[in-house]
Amino acid sequence: MDQTMIKDAAAYINDKLTSAPGIGLILGSGLGVLADEIENPVSFAYKDIPHFPESTVSGHKGQLVIGELEGKQVIAMQGRFHYYEGYSMQQVTFPVRVMKEMGIDSIIVTNAAGGINQSYSPGDLMLITDHINNMGDNPLLGPNDASLGERFPDMSQVYDKAYLQHAKDHAAALGLNVQEGVYVGNSGPTYETPAEINMLRTLGGDAVGMSTVPEVIVSGHAGLRVLGISCISNMAAGILDQSLTHDEVIETTAQVREDFLRFVKEIIRTLPNS
Ligand code: HPA
Repeated sequence: MDQTMIKDAAAYINDKLTSAPGIGLILGSGLGVLADEIENPVSFAYKDIPHFPESTVSGHKGQLVIGELEGKQVIAMQGRFHYYEGYSMQQVTFPVRVMKEMGIDSIIVTNAAGGINQSYSPGDLMLITDHINNMGDNPLLGPNDASLGERFPDMSQVYDKAYLQHAKDHAAALGLNVQEGVYVGNSGPTYETPAEINMLRTLGGDAVGMSTVPEVIVSGHAGLRVLGISCISNMAAGILDQSLTHDEVIETTAQVREDFLRFVKEIIRTLPNS
């Protein structure tokens, strides 16, 4: 991913916009509906944007939607690229580079995840306090382009503390009971075995999914302020005596959609300096 490709894609989009977005949104499985609420939207199918890969999973739409949400200029990814689809980590995170180039300074990254923490229930929302990169790869491997970020980026505060507090305050104000925890990023596409879930719990994981970690690493590298929110769509393997299906993930996220939408919209409405 060189600068030229990033600039090409950003220029293609910017050409059709009248104002620059300040907040990026990555909308996970079943959560893309938030983009439907954007006012005066300008949309770009991923396949039309120079150098963008194309999304392949059902339940993911595959377009960028830019416009106004709760009085803020936002750019939303309705559907994301996953490592398990066969894309490289650089392809998965290319849209983050493009959104940064377009001028965003903060990003809200969302996903559906399995609950590892036994005190969670399907349908809970979880603020991501930290992550564990268990994907066996990293989007920053290879030569570092110093104009994009540092060679050895600090990840100790990649989830912005002030944003976390902001989100907690507004969850309380909305009467939402929101969890906080550590997200483990696995490559997928298999769901985990019960033994793997026990291991991940021992390692400090509270929720597990197949996304988010690459985008957050690149956001940190790019100096973006990050807020991460997981929708706990199911209890992870082995916790309940039942098997996991993608349909269950989509169904549960549909059930919590209203809470999720209210929560994220309120966070955006009240987010300072964007
Ligand atoms: N494991 C991994 N990814 C997931 C899960 C899960 O249980 N639920 C939703 N995404």
